[in-house]
Amino acid sequence: KSLQPFNTFGMAVTAREFAVFQSAAQLAELTARGSNPLILGGGSNMLFTGNYDGLVLKNELKGIELVSEDDRYYYVKAQAGENWHQFVLHCLAQNYAGLENLSLIPGCVGASPMQNIGAYGVEIKDVFHSLEAWHLHDKTIVTFSLEDCGFGYRESVFKRRYRNQFVILNVTFKLLKKPVFHTTYGAIEQELQRMGIKDLSIQAISQAVINIRSSKLPDPAEIGNAGSFFKNPAISTVQFQQLQQQFPNMVGYPVTGNETKLAAGWLIEQCGWKGYRKGDAGCYPKQALVLVNYAHATGKEIYQLSAEIIASVQEKFGVTLEREVNII
Ligand code: FAD
Ligand code: EPU
Repeated sequence: KSLQPFNTFGMAVTAREFAVFQSAAQLAELTARGSNPLILGGGSNMLFTGNYDGLVLKNELKGIELVSEDDRYYYVKAQAGENWHQFVLHCLAQNYAGLENLSLIPGCVGASPMQNIGAYGVEIKDVFHSLEAWHLHDKTIVTFSLEDCGFGYRESVFKRRYRNQFVILNVTFKLLKKPVFHTTYGAIEQELQRMGIKDLSIQAISQAVINIRSSKLPDPAEIGNAGSFFKNPAISTVQFQQLQQQFPNMVGYPVTGNETKLAAGWLIEQCGWKGYRKGDAGCYPKQALVLVNYAHATGKEIYQLSAEIIASVQEKFGVTLEREVNII
């Protein structure tokens, strides 16, 4: 079975076996033989470097439900196979606040906790209530609270500690009745002004985010990609200050304690990769953090390009970039 339509990099690879599941019972049945499946959502955060010699299970669990509410929050449960942005739009239409900054992120609800998706000053940990996941080995459904998930920057227990052990079935979000606006991320303020917004609303913020994203991120329907290929690296503030003496324009944001996060896109651009293209593999001209497949690049070519970028950033700045995309 070709996986090309199922990964946003557009890699022309195959899976030995492929099936979809629309219920937890179906998932249980499909995994009963004990095989170690690859769970596929929108395929927007993976790079296939070859054919997949195993079972790929595409998650098609659907449904969005308001499960309860209290004075402050709506508790909204979305099944893992719901498209993330459609879910965000649904919540905006009901005036459930909190997801607006996370507009237009590709993929499915079920993958959102995997790397604690984030954009424009908000991460899903800020709106997360709980999730249910299928334990492949014990064959039981386990509930995870916010604390259980171990969320960090592009991190969770599902990505590392419990890798390949759980299938996320649904996620419950706690969304505000009275919105709190997050507009400190520079570009949002500017875009809201450009749009001429006078009365701030979650809908306006969502539109601002959509406008910014559309202006610099490639649409996977046109150019294959998986968003940021690398994470923004954190280094000690001491090291940052030393680097700044050498590179006065270096972009960095203070994070907790004595760490500073660098803009990986800036580091990559400074190394001269922005707009680079070899065959059909390239570094996107409008956003250096995004690697792209212009047509027929292979996963190995993209991976090789990423290795060259890591080496050159290491050499110029002494900073180690980590891949953000799941390599398969
Ligand atoms: P997939 O790629 O299908 O899967 C990702 C990983 O999660 C795989 O390891 C997979 O096995 C596992 N997985 C998927 N579903 C489940 C499940 N139900 N249970 C257990 N494991 C599962 N990310 C951000 O955080 N912020 C951004 O701003 C952002 N912008 C992007 C922009 C573009 C143009 C693109 C292409 C990607 C962007 N991404 C961003 C990355 C991506 O959209 C997110 O990581 C998204 O959550 C991936 O969802 P998916 O359903 O496509 O996951
Ligand atoms: N920059 C450059 N050159 C570039 C790209 C960026 O110099 O080619 C510098 C700019 O100075 C800019 C700064 O980097 O001010 C930050 O850039 P941007 O706002 O585009 O965000 P990013 O740090 O590159 C991160 C996330 C994105 C997320 C945006 C918005 C990571 C790895 N990436 O990108 O997430 O949408 O912030 O919050 O944290 C993704 O994960 O796939 C993704 C797209």
